[in-house]
Formats: sequence, structure tokens, C-alpha cells
Amino acid sequence: DKKFTVSDFREFKARGEKIAMLTAYDYSMAKLLDDAGVDSLLVGDSLGMTMLGYENTLQVTMEDMIHHTKAVRRGTKNAFLVADMPYLSYEINVEEAVRNAGRLVREAQADAVKVEGGYEMVETIKAIVRAKIPVVAHLGLTPQSVNIFGGFKVQGKNLDQAQKLIEEALAVQEAGACAVVLECIPSRLAKVISEKLEIPTIGIGAGADCDGQVLVIQDMIGMFKTFTPKFVKKFASVGEEIEAAVEAYITEIKSGAFPGPEHTFKLADEVLEKLY
Ligand code: KIV
Ligand code: NA
Repeated sequence: DKKFTVSDFREFKARGEKIAMLTAYDYSMAKLLDDAGVDSLLVGDSLGMTMLGYENTLQVTMEDMIHHTKAVRRGTKNAFLVADMPYLSYEINVEEAVRNAGRLVREAQADAVKVEGGYEMVETIKAIVRAKIPVVAHLGLTPQSVNIFGGFKVQGKNLDQAQKLIEEALAVQEAGACAVVLECIPSRLAKVISEKLEIPTIGIGAGADCDGQVLVIQDMIGMFKTFTPKFVKKFASVGEEIEAAVEAYITEIKSGAFPGPEHTFKLADEVLEKLY
């Protein structure tokens, strides 16, 4: 194994090797995914939903992101570690954006940060890159804008929207982004964008022609029951495994089958006698 760096992003794209990215939010999961060989891990602000039980990502704070990114960092050896900038940590002004991006790198040791938005993020992306921090852009269905969109809806379906997305993808590339996440856009539009860009596109709900794919780990291993979007493929049913294990555990405790002799520690007879 070899540590994946920002320059690998373009090399993967140049030789047509797809980038495999997953989200991770804690040490033990990050270690499993890194050991399995994932190219990149994203500490997504989706942790607001998967780990903290919020309705959307808007309540996630810098402190939340730093806390989880630190944990993921300790479990990550080879994957390129991207941390999301949470809502309102980069919108107010460029100075705050650079300071907060710097905290994710300095305090939590992220390799790169991710920001949502197109034209409005161009100056911010430039400033963060100027501060020597790689930036992943995020276009299409950007969940921090849920209240502007009026819900989680596929983006870029009509000609105006599709052209705007292409132009914004070129703009964030020009601003210095090292990759761009495309979320919930038609696959044919994602193909056009992927062909026009030099930097890799990483799709989620954007079809097979992106240069890489990302999914939320809980979704792809089937341990998040509340809601499964159309674009998710369940590669395992870990939630059912956990439920079955916990039911068996409860049953064995009630029946006395667990713990067995093999799980317990011995005490010599002569010591025991003196205890009575
Ligand atoms: O927060 C997140 O998990 C993300 C990915 C879905 C791209 O931003
Ligand atoms: Na996110």
C-alpha cells in the first residue's frame, strides 16, 4: 500500500482508473475502510445525520468536524483524507474560510477540505488553495442549500441549469480545486462535465461516467434504516447483522448461556475457601 496524495487524483483520471471514496466518521470504521484499500475517505458533514441524528447538515459545527476528523485521521494510513467545511464556516468571508480550513488541517490533520458551491465559492477556493490547502469542490445537490432548493432534489435537469453546472465546474477547476463532487445530477450531464474537466469528478447519484464514486458508509453497508436514496447500492446488510447479534446476546444473557467457562477467569480452591 501507498499513501494516496492530491497528485494521484489527476493521475488516476489520466489513466482511467476510478477513484473509490467513502465517508467515515470514527476511528474503527476508518481503519476498516483504509485497510480494505479505499483511495479516499471523506469526513462528510453528513455525520450530522448518520452520527448525531440531525434532520440535515445545517447544525454541524467546526467543533463537530474537528472531533470526528481527528478520530478518522488516527485510523487512516493510506487514504486521502478530505474533511467537509460545515455550514457557515466558509460563507461569511474569505478570511474566516481560510482560518477554518486551516483548523481542519492543523488541528485535525485533514489532507484537504471540501466546500459546497460554484461561482460564489471561486474566491474562497482560491484563498484556501493560496493557504496551501487542497480543496475539493461540490456541485449539484449541495445539501447545505436544502432550504434554498426547497428539498433534496435532482439538479441540472433543464438546459439553463445544466449549462450553469458545466460553467461552474470549469470555474471551480480554474479557481484551483483538486477534484469536484457531483451530487444528484443526470448521468449524461455528469459525463459531459467529466469530459470537460481535467480534475476528477467524484459522483454520488451522478452515474458511472464520473472519474470516481463516493457513498455514505452507513448507506452502502445497510446500517441506516431511516431513509435510502435511489442512488445508494447496499453492498451488505450490516444493520440486520447487528440486530441479530444483539438479539442473540440478550437471549444468551437471559438464559445464562453467556458468559461460558471460556470467557471467565479462574480462582484457586484454597483462595475461594478463605473467602467464606
Ligand atoms: O457529507 C457527505 O457525506 C458528502 C458526500 C455525500 C459527498 O458531502
Ligand atoms: Na457533505
